[in-house]
Amino acid sequence: MRKKLVAGNWKMHGSRVMADALVGEIVENLPGGVEVVVFPPDVYLAGLSDRYGDRGLGFGAQDLSEHHALGAYTGEIAGEMLRDVGADWVLVGHSERRQYQRETDDLLAKKFDAARTAGLKPILCVGETLEEHEDGRAEEVIGHQIGVVIDCCGIESFRDAVIAYEPVWAIGTGLTATPEKAQKIHAAIRSQLAKKDANISLLTRVLYGGSVKPANAAELFAQPDVDGGLIGGASLVASDFLDICAAAR
Ligand code: G3P
Repeated sequence: MRKKLVAGNWKMHGSRVMADALVGEIVENLPGGVEVVVFPPDVYLAGLSDRYGDRGLGFGAQDLSEHHALGAYTGEIAGEMLRDVGADWVLVGHSERRQYQRETDDLLAKKFDAARTAGLKPILCVGETLEEHEDGRAEEVIGHQIGVVIDCCGIESFRDAVIAYEPVWAIGTGLTATPEKAQKIHAAIRSQLAKKDANISLLTRVLYGGSVKPANAAELFAQPDVDGGLIGGASLVASDFLDICAAAR
């Protein structure tokens, strides 16, 4: 019912040579039956989409401006610019931006709206910190993160969006959430959406992110409400990323 999606978040990694080599190897070996998208740093998008834009691999950006119209916003990148350089997707609210750039739920709701206005498919990233996890507040925190966007943009705005559950304590740590833990949270996310619109709840893909590796991907992706993964470190190694994509078929 929901086609699996595997997204590779390169974060602040790459060079022109590395990006071309990595994407070149990915497009040559893409498995069928799974949607695959990579999120390189913005500076590489134009070259990559020009060269590999029609090979079955999607491209996305890791952030965007909340401003809908172009203007005097030094250093900002508008959603329409990302579309112009070949991006169809954009990450909104990755925990590293919530932490380092102090992006608030309200700002992220505006970014989510700006993404959709520009015709980009947003991946809304949500997740609890280690402290919130240990306090048993994961579902409360995630429910609030999603609720702010629903209140701002409406449940219909999730029709062409994706949610990524990334427990902060699992990102880059090797401490992957167990498949059972991931399934519990994903089911809670889907239940929250269902309270607003049952159809959108069924259609919305919910990805898991946080130390997904070739060794653990299949068990995670086998969970009924896990619709794929948002991959960090492993997305920078073509063979690992392709193994994870194959596990999602
Ligand atoms: O956005 C995906 C990322 O946060 C997960 O990172 O290295 O734990 O796969 P990693």
